[in-house]
Order: sequence, then C-alpha cells, then structure tokens
Amino acid sequence: MASVLIREAKEGDCGNILRMIRELAEYEKLSDQVKISEEALRADGFGENPFFHCLVAEILPAPGEPQGSCMVGYGLYYFIYSTWTGRNIYLEDIYVKPEYRGTGQDWGGEKSSPHRPPHLLPLNRSLWSFLIPFSSDNPSFCFFLPTSGQGIGSKIIKKVAEVALDKGCSQFRLAVLDWNKKAVDLYKALGARDLTEAEGWHSFRFEGEAMRELAGK
Ligand code: ACO
Repeated sequence: MASVLIREAKEGDCGNILRMIRELAEYEKLSDQVKISEEALRADGFGENPFFHCLVAEILPAPGEPQGSCMVGYGLYYFIYSTWTGRNIYLEDIYVKPEYRGTGQDWGGEKSSPHRPPHLLPLNRSLWSFLIPFSSDNPSFCFFLPTSGQGIGSKIIKKVAEVALDKGCSQFRLAVLDWNKKAVDLYKALGARDLTEAEGWHSFRFEGEAMRELAGK
C-alpha cells in the first residue's frame, strides 16, 4: 500500500504549495485575498533568513507501483515571540486534499469514505502507462488511491509540535474561522484550547490604506 511521508518542503515544491494555498483559500471562501506568487514563496521561504517554514505531505508509491510520489497536503508555520512565554510557533495554514482527509475508520473494504470521489478507482497497468506521462506534466494531478486511515492532518500537526519543542517553543498557536467545525473539532481533539472561548481574544489586522496612513506613506 502507498504510504504517507511528512517532510520539509523544498524550493521546487513551491508551485504545488501555491496550488494548495489557493485550494485552502477557496475552501475558506476567501480566494480573492490570495495575492502571493510562486516567486515570493521561493524568495521568502528558501533564502538565507526564511520568513516561513513548510511541511508537505507526500504519498509514496508502494514498491513496484509505477507512478511517482504526489503531494496531498501542507502545513506552513513560522516562529513568533510572546512577552509572556518567549519562543512560540504559529501554524499559518494546514490543508489536506479532500480525497485524502480523515482518520480512516470508514475507509477501505465495503465501507468507503464519504470524501472518496468516484473517479479514484483502481487502474490497471496499461491505463497507468497512458496516464503517467500526463501526470508528470501536471504536478497537481494525483492518481493514488486515497490511503485509508492515515490521519494526514494530525500527522502534520504532530510534526509541527515536534519542531516547536525542538526549537524551545512553549506554545503552538493557530487561528481558524468560526464556521470551520471540522478543523475546530480536530484541534480540540488533539488538545488545543479555544482562546476566543476561554479568554475572549479577537484577531485584528492593519492592511492597505489603513497601514499606509499609519506609516505616512
Ligand atoms: N480524537 C478524535 N477525533 C480525531 C482525533 C482524535 N485524536 N484525531 C482526528 N480526529 C478526527 C477529526 O474530528 C476528523 O474527523 P473525520 O475523519 O470525521 O473528518 C478527522 O479525524 C480529521 O483528522 P485527520 O485525518 O488527522 O486530519 P485530515 O487529514 O482530515 O486534515 C484538515 C485535517 C487539515 C483540517 C483537513 O480536513 C482540511 O484540509 N480541511 C479543509 C481545509 C481546512 O479546514 N484547513 C484548516 C484551516 S485553519 C488553519 O489553516 C490554521
């Protein structure tokens, strides 16, 4: 069976990461706010002093399977600083492609996942040989069957927690839209505290004209 690898992103992954950033923004109904380019991701994430770090989830073929690996998710994080607790880590984005989500209790056999799209059916070898050249020109194209029960999102989050501890961080923060119940439930299940609920924090940002006016530019 194909397996999942969570690894650090490389500069050459930026095209795939950007595609998934757009998919996440679409899911969050905020696509119009995505202004970032592949060039900016390359420059800001892979220079001498990177502004962010990124993990990607990759499905690796089982030995003997003809297709290459394929990227199905990412987690983008950076380090922040708290005057109360010192070093912290902030998970800006986490995303797993729809057909690879879930912990897998309902995957495989006769019980198939509700996420599993009908076009992802086992393919025979002659069909593979037709599709593989096409997929290598389309890095967002993934022919793997969803790998059941992988909990890819949790794996990414656990890896971020591991990085945080290795770097001496005491907190691992993130923000989520209030209607995104699935993500909220996952964060709570993994032990995160809802700070809006517990302490009443609101998230603010200055941008565009408001920021220029402040800076007098
Ligand atoms: N206890 C109980 N339930 C658990 C546990 C646990 N320890 N761990 C996982 N679960 C459940 C979750 O409730 C959820 O249930 P489901 O299988 O019925 O969907 C499921 O397991 C999700 O866990 P994973 O399989 O580990 O996560 P997944 O691979 O589905 O990725 C993610 C989660 C990233 C939120 C994915 O669903 C996704 O991409 N969603 C769309 C985009 C999104 O919402 N991103 C987060 C935005 S907020 C931000 O970026 C900071």
